[in-house]
Formats: sequence, C-alpha cells, structure tokens
Amino acid sequence: MSRKKLDGKVALITGSSRGIGLATAKEMAKRGASVVLNARGEERLEKARAQLVADGCDVAAFPCDVSSSDACREMVDFAVEKFGRLDILLNNAGVSMRSNFEDLDAELCRKVVDVNLLGCIYPTLYAVPHIKKTRGHLLFISSIAGIIGLPTASLYCATKRGLAGFADSIRCELAPDGVHVGVIYVGFTENDPEKKVIGAGGEGISPDRPAHMTQAQVANEICRVVEHRKRNAVLSPIGKLAGFAAWLSPDLVEQIIIFTRKHKLSEKLNIR
Ligand SMILES: NC(=O)c1ccc[n+]([C@@H]2O[C@H](COP(=O)([O-])OP(=O)(O)OC[C@H]3O[C@@H](n4cnc5c(N)ncnc54)[C@H](OP(=O)(O)O)[C@@H]3O)[C@@H](O)[C@H]2O)c1
Repeated sequence: MSRKKLDGKVALITGSSRGIGLATAKEMAKRGASVVLNARGEERLEKARAQLVADGCDVAAFPCDVSSSDACREMVDFAVEKFGRLDILLNNAGVSMRSNFEDLDAELCRKVVDVNLLGCIYPTLYAVPHIKKTRGHLLFISSIAGIIGLPTASLYCATKRGLAGFADSIRCELAPDGVHVGVIYVGFTENDPEKKVIGAGGEGISPDRPAHMTQAQVANEICRVVEHRKRNAVLSPIGKLAGFAAWLSPDLVEQIIIFTRKHKLSEKLNIR
C-alpha cells in the first residue's frame, strides 16, 4: 500500500468541531495524520469526533476554550499523551465581528483579542517544545482582513494582522530547529448554518457574505502549505487581488473602500 503524505504525523487543530477546522481535520486524517479536535461546545465536538471515527480516522477530542492558558497547556499535553508526539499545530479557532469601532465596548474588544490572538499564542507556547522535536509545523489562520483594513472588523483585522507579526518573529527564532511556520490568509469561505459573528452588543449575527471557496478547498490548500512548508498562502482570487492591490497602493485600496461605503456600494462588494 502506498504511503500517504501525512502518515505517522499528529495534528492538533483548534476550533475544529465545524467549519474550516473540521474540514481540515478530515483532509489531514485522509492524508494519514492522527488528529486531535478542539472546540468549546462538547456536544458538537463529540459529533465531529464520532463522524471522523466512523470514517475510519484516528482521532481524539479535547474540549476547551483557547483563550485560557491553563486549558491550552492541558490540550497540548493531552495530544502528546494520546498519540506520543506532535507534528502539526493548526491555530484555527477564531471569532469574527461586525460593528463600527466606536460602538464597541472594552469587554468585546478583549474577547476578540483573547480568542483570535492569545488563543493562538497559548497553544503555540506549549506546543513549541514538541514541534521542535518533530521539526514540525506551526500554522496560523489569518484572513483577507489581515491584509487590508475592512471596515466594521477593526478588532478582527488587528488580530489577524497581529498573527502575521507573531509568526514572522517566531519563524526567525525557530528556523535553526527546523520548525516550519506558515500563515494562511483565508478568503470568504462557505459557512456552516450555525456560524455567528459578534455584533456591537455581543449578540450573534449570521454572516451573509457570499462564499468564494468551499471549506474542502481551503482544507486542501492548508494541507499544501504543510506539505510544501510554505511560509504563507493567500487564498481565493479576491484575496490575491486584495493582497496585490494593498502591496501596490494601500492608499488607493483605502480610497476605494471609503468611496464604496459612502455610496452604499459596500454591501454589494462585501467590504462593509
Ligand atoms: N469562513 C470564512 O469566510 C473565513 C474567512 C477568513 C478567515 N476565517 C478564519 O478561519 C477560522 C475558522 O473559521 P470558520 O468560518 O470555520 O469558523 P466557525 O464555523 O465559526 O468555526 C469556529 C470553530 O472554532 C470553535 N471556537 C470558537 N471559539 C473558540 C474558543 N474560544 N476556543 C476553542 N474553540 C473555539 C468553534 O466551536 P465552539 O463555538 O463550540 O467553541 C468552531 O468549532 C477562523 O479563525 C476565521 O477567522 C474564516
């Protein structure tokens, strides 16, 4: 039987009870990896674990909130105890938001930073010693919002761009140990029906952006980043265009966004 590309590897994927995280767990397991799933909601997480087991995958689950440092240490310890090693940490768990900055309160600001930034930093902190042993992979899920400043997503943009700075720094530190650090800038992707983004009052709002990629396509691209040890990948044609335009002229990109908001074209163009 031919070897699969991730045979013998162990992957820990945060925020993997649904969405892009679950799709990537399926794809990595299909490519031979043993996978540890994570999310806060235990029922949905168990459903995801059972689904993967039924598909013949080698999988375990650890429920916790990644914004807790202690819980992240226990999650990493669990993965290593369960499968004996750790090769891939995919920092995927994240919350999105929809509100003008001036309508936010301090508590909501803290929540987005805690989950999107510290919720990637804590698992990485505890995973590094294990990933060094396997010369493995530390991966971060960013967004188009990590490339250009999308209105009504200020904290989301801050955290998703912050991840790139964090990744660039630890890449330099960990290069001598053979550790791969990759950032994936995900474009608008299909959402599970239960997905919610956070509004100004902390309420859950259903996202209404049209998708440019399926979750399975994103999962496939994430696996390519691992297998080719790529430093980053910008997904979807819109993402690539946004990246190029921001590199060419950030001023022009901002002027276009301001113009479309002023003339109420933003809804149609998905840049509100
Ligand atoms: N979908 C898109 O269009 C898009 C575009 C660009 C970037 N992204 C990024 O891709 C990643 C996944 O997005 P998605 O659309 O798949 O999201 P999603 O459908 O909302 O799934 C998020 C997953 O993370 C878990 N989660 C949320 N907060 C958590 C926490 N504090 N601790 C542990 N787990 C937590 C959720 O389960 P529980 O709620 O039960 O914890 C769920 O399993 C995010 O980082 C997002 O910012 C998505």
